Amino acid sequence: MAAQPLTPQPEDRFSFGLWTVGWRAVDPFGEATRPRLDPVEAVHRLAGLGAWGVTFHDDDLIPFGADGAEREGHIARFREALDETGLVVPMATTNLFTHPVFKGGALTSADRDIRRYALRKVMRNMDLAAELGARTYVLWGGREGAETDAGIDVPAALDRYAEGVDTLAQYVLDQGYDLRLALEPKPNEPRGDILLPTIGHALAFISRLQHHEMVGVNPEVGHEQMAGLNYVHGIGQALWSGKLFHLDLNGQRGPRYDQDFVFGHGDLLSAFFTVDLLEHGGYEGPRHFDYKPLRTEDADGVWASAEANMRSYLILRERARAYRADPEVREALRAARVDQLAVPTLEPGETPARLAADPGAFEEFDVDAAAARGGGFVRLSQLALEHLTGAR
Ligand code: GCO
Ligand code: MN
Ligand code: MN
Repeated sequence: MAAQPLTPQPEDRFSFGLWTVGWRAVDPFGEATRPRLDPVEAVHRLAGLGAWGVTFHDDDLIPFGADGAEREGHIARFREALDETGLVVPMATTNLFTHPVFKGGALTSADRDIRRYALRKVMRNMDLAAELGARTYVLWGGREGAETDAGIDVPAALDRYAEGVDTLAQYVLDQGYDLRLALEPKPNEPRGDILLPTIGHALAFISRLQHHEMVGVNPEVGHEQMAGLNYVHGIGQALWSGKLFHLDLNGQRGPRYDQDFVFGHGDLLSAFFTVDLLEHGGYEGPRHFDYKPLRTEDADGVWASAEANMRSYLILRERARAYRADPEVREALRAARVDQLAVPTLEPGETPARLAADPGAFEEFDVDAAAARGGGFVRLSQLALEHLTGAR
């Protein structure tokens, strides 16, 4: 069935967070089921599987509290592994959620000294990100939120959030770094409610920033689906806004806890249309996987799951291409008038007054005939399913 080999190539731009394959599977009910994974081993194993990039939180690479010499040692070993394997660091991010100091938030903590500390923690890792050649800096505000509405002044928290993001953007400019910032929305978990819960909230927030041009989004499949939203539509709007700077691919089954499954192991049809959009919609950034290997798995299962993410993507890309190339699909798209959405509603140069004076658009328009036209979307949907399953 597959016309393309399912072997990842560097040009596929597959990347993984150190925290994904390195997740020790601690959950709220159980302790770790796997030993610590050395970041150097992660780099070698990911490279061996055909990944192109690796990403990290500061604390994934340099344990929290490490002194200067230890820190340099960790960075040197990591750099050496990158040099040996050719893996790149396209993105980095900050852990502003594990240490108890962040239990009430980081950039939006009510404690001003904690907000200042959080900014310094981000800046320090931005220095390292720039040194390692990263182009995107992700900000996931996992603890920016609340459990009770009594305890948060949302407009004031958003003021502090905006101040924090603008301060970081200014820092990037002042240092001359080639970095863009990407905000990662999530509706809840670990907080009861997290600020900037969806792509739409994040885009609206960005438009109010002083440095809005430097800030985009890093949408994660499961996070939109936890909110019952359509990921394809969300990233479609981010692309349309010129704000899809980066993304986190994974799997989720509906609105429940953040499952972080392998890409394709959740809502498969949505994954198919996600790949279709990324491949045909002009997204050129990394295909970054932010997932958690199942808690049941041993080391072999971890590497099988890393490989599975990339294979899922490659299979879906091949299926999406076949779908787009099928003459019957093209004909069905035309029959459903999908192509007509690209045609402007007004004639070139037409004014609202001329439209208001056009009897063909209203007085003579046959409303009943137009209402009776069939959509043709079931046929398209089934064609997609048949391509996805290999029935075509
Ligand atoms: C999650 C989040 C995190 C963030 C990452 C970047 O699954 O809740 O996606 O994994 O992406 O921590 O800061
Ligand atoms: Mn997640
Ligand atoms: Mn994520």
